[in-house]
Amino acid sequence: MTEKSLHEDTIVVHDGYDASLHHGSLTVPLYQTSTYSFENAEQGERRFSGDEDGLIYSRLGNPTVQLLESRMAALEKGQGALAFGSGMAAVSAVLVHLTKAGDDVLCSRGIYGCTFGLLGIMEEKYKITHRFIRMTTEEEIERAIKPETVCIYVETPINPTMELVNLQAVVNVAKRHNLRVVVDNTFSSPYLQKPLEIGADFVLHSATKYINGHGDVIAGLLVGNDADEMQTIRMSIQKDYGGIISPFDAWLLIRGLKTLPIRMERHTSNAEKLIAFLKTRAEVDQIFYPYDENHPEYAIAKAQMRAGGGLISFTIKGGKEQARQFLNRLSLIKIAVSLGDAETLIQHPATMTHSSVPEEERLQMGITDSLIRLSVGLEHADDLIADLAQAFENK
Ligand SMILES: Cc1ncc(COP(=O)(O)O)c(C=O)c1O
Repeated sequence: MTEKSLHEDTIVVHDGYDASLHHGSLTVPLYQTSTYSFENAEQGERRFSGDEDGLIYSRLGNPTVQLLESRMAALEKGQGALAFGSGMAAVSAVLVHLTKAGDDVLCSRGIYGCTFGLLGIMEEKYKITHRFIRMTTEEEIERAIKPETVCIYVETPINPTMELVNLQAVVNVAKRHNLRVVVDNTFSSPYLQKPLEIGADFVLHSATKYINGHGDVIAGLLVGNDADEMQTIRMSIQKDYGGIISPFDAWLLIRGLKTLPIRMERHTSNAEKLIAFLKTRAEVDQIFYPYDENHPEYAIAKAQMRAGGGLISFTIKGGKEQARQFLNRLSLIKIAVSLGDAETLIQHPATMTHSSVPEEERLQMGITDSLIRLSVGLEHADDLIADLAQAFENK
């Protein structure tokens, strides 16, 4: 059986690793080294000139990191992957790679707060403009393309409103206009959504979240559909900007990745139970979840996502004060930004993750003061429901 025919549950455990080359070590060894010694000066010259393949220095390549990268490429069905020291390093690498002064980036209506910040810096320093639009139909996207537009950058589901982008529509329009498509797949993970299969050019992750899954690493991953282009990014922007991952963090990600499929299934089944509970509560106004039949883009969710995942947003009746009091009454569920961990986390986007987005734009994105985001963890759903219930009741 070739590796290509393996299921993804098996890929996350085995892909790319040959224990016989590592003394039979069952797990991938951690190469905690910054550099590699050459057999002689001539070999050093050959490695630098490219006449001989091999390692030089860990900013340019490390065996533990390379295993993570090849496994992620296999999982996302890409042709190459790069690991970074944070999700934002992956975001900035791909945006710097795709744009030059005077270009325009078309974005989904709602993106991660620091990506928003980065686009602001790019606009101020390099006159690279950006715009935010809804992307549920080809017409909406088509209308927004300008001659300067070079790429479409989307998140789906969008953080934290859970609005969806129609990936097929984005890809269709991009192909007609020769634009590159980048998808931040952090919220879904490769297990639930595979944008490269739909036709996107790049997928990126804050690997800090579901890829690692244990809340102990900050990291990023970028996967592309063109091996040569990924190698170009490795040997230019990644090498020269330098936002690489440490070997130890790559090793932790390899470990975390092994349980991604089963974690995503539990995150999803727990989320479904919590939604059923939230629907019974008079204190809850609206619930936003891609696989909820009332979600306006439910059909899009069904078409591009395997399941709804572990993130739920909902609005609480009242405003900021009611939201704050509710959070403060929780005990098992932790108030924390980040998501995708074993622990269930809750946060208030308007005053936390999206507090740097100006109020007008924030409200346009649908991030009101009563919006709460819940990252459902791996605990028993009944214990989570009991915590939510006491926080609603102990007013
Ligand atoms: C959707 C999304 N993209 C990117 C990032 C940035 O990732 P990192 O914090 O690993 O730099 C985050 C972080 O929360 C995120 O939620």
